[in-house]
Amino acid sequence: MTTPKIVRIPSLKSNEAFRAHVQSLGIDLQLEDRLSVGTDSALTQPLQCNGRSIGNRWAAHPMEGWDGTATGGITDSMLRRWRRFGESGAKLIWGGEAMAVRPDGRANPRQLIITKENKAGLAELRKTLVEAHRQRWGRTDDLMIGFQLTHSGRFCRPTDQKTPEPRVAYRHPLLDPKTGVTEDGQVFSDDELKRLTEDYVEAAKIAADVGADFVDIKHCHGYLLHELLSAHTRPGIYGGPLENRARMLCEIVAGIRAYVPKLEIGVRLSAFDSVPYKPNPELTRPNRMGPGIPEDFSPYLPYRYAFGVNASNPLESDLAEPTEFLTLLVNLGIKLVNLSAGSPYYTPHLQRPAIYPPSDGYEPPEDPLVGVARQINMVRTLKARFPQLILVGTGYSYLQEYLPQVAEYYMRNHHVDVVGVGRAMLSYPTILAEATTMGKLDAGRICRTFSDCTTAPRNGLRSGCYPLDPYYKSLEDAVKLKASKAAKSCAAPN
Ligand SMILES: Cc1cc2nc3c(=O)[nH]c(=O)nc-3n(C[C@H](O)[C@H](O)[C@H](O)COP(=O)(O)O)c2cc1C
Repeated sequence: MTTPKIVRIPSLKSNEAFRAHVQSLGIDLQLEDRLSVGTDSALTQPLQCNGRSIGNRWAAHPMEGWDGTATGGITDSMLRRWRRFGESGAKLIWGGEAMAVRPDGRANPRQLIITKENKAGLAELRKTLVEAHRQRWGRTDDLMIGFQLTHSGRFCRPTDQKTPEPRVAYRHPLLDPKTGVTEDGQVFSDDELKRLTEDYVEAAKIAADVGADFVDIKHCHGYLLHELLSAHTRPGIYGGPLENRARMLCEIVAGIRAYVPKLEIGVRLSAFDSVPYKPNPELTRPNRMGPGIPEDFSPYLPYRYAFGVNASNPLESDLAEPTEFLTLLVNLGIKLVNLSAGSPYYTPHLQRPAIYPPSDGYEPPEDPLVGVARQINMVRTLKARFPQLILVGTGYSYLQEYLPQVAEYYMRNHHVDVVGVGRAMLSYPTILAEATTMGKLDAGRICRTFSDCTTAPRNGLRSGCYPLDPYYKSLEDAVKLKASKAAKSCAAPN
């Protein structure tokens, strides 16, 4: 395997050039010929969700900043981020950012914790977002805000950024050695999962109290509830058949419905996964990471350690179980679903396609547009199967200049209900608002997927857009980030 030659998006100067490149990659990725504005744009059309209106078709994805207080409270940089989500014009705020339902479930010592002690701060975050939205866009009655509830499971680091304190759903032959799992005592017992279910319900009550419209019961990116979905080898009531693997979700939903029946519930799901990737050691150089290659999974076939993969070849997705899971969501009365893929820790090229790798990653094993198309087409397939769900799509930021036209195509043709914006929301929160009002973009603010927003927290620093956002450029953290990148050589591929 060699390093693929990657064509940079800004070098594609026309729709024809974009299409020719897509064709050369052998992928299916469509775009509208021009940007539509105002009511001509499919992105500006409202959407109904159980009797309420969501004012348009783009969402701010949850984007955490590794910037809370040591007790999981809010800070100025967090308030600034939520203010910018409000200013973005997005009418669906999917989660804000991951909020741990209890202190030991944090992915890092700076993650928000949704507890009674932090209630006033959470209310302030929400109020700041709503106020910023009102000032910029007028009405807020068509704005829908969710809080994302999480337990980071295998990726918990609640005390110190450098010290893993994993708690897992089951022993994983390829991830255990990478995540500090060495003994069965780190596997959650059934009783512990029952207690954790109560923590989710308590967190949902707090969310409702401070004015959230919905909670997202996070099932993505390798965190606990996502890992439970692949707990084929776990004995007992939370392992084995999908009915058991999804039991904790059903119990959380029942608890929320009993105590806060008016609160909407959503689920963010990694609809497919893969085996963990690593830099190819044969192509790693002193100043270069190698391109990603999968860990050797051959001793573990049929592969029973990931959700939404073909067990005979886990490098391929299989949407049969994700389809069953979405059917379960429909039966539970859940309408809001945000579809993602993989994990930022072990398959970043699937989860957030980028040209520059994060410092704990690998060079792209494929043109990142392949990763974008994979997610977009997965949503298209599931949308055809579930017209009754509101499906939010992910992975659009790498499209850069072409983001609005691609989003417009998939929206106009009903292949997605809401386009989620992640990294581009950090550098250019109003990217879709400007596209759909002015019909053009400010190229200087477009996210170029430098991955500093991931590399910074991997090195104990706050996340943010260091290359393009003056606020982060001016921080002392920017100097530290530069030094750690120089030490680790996070170079772009050819
Ligand atoms: C800095 C950073 C923070 C993120 N925080 C969260 C989070 O708190 N919860 C979550 O579900 N996803 C999180 N994500 C993933 C994004 O929501 C999104 O899925 C990903 O960036 C791909 O979308 P994009 O191509 O628009 O960036 C984060 C991603 C980044 C880069």
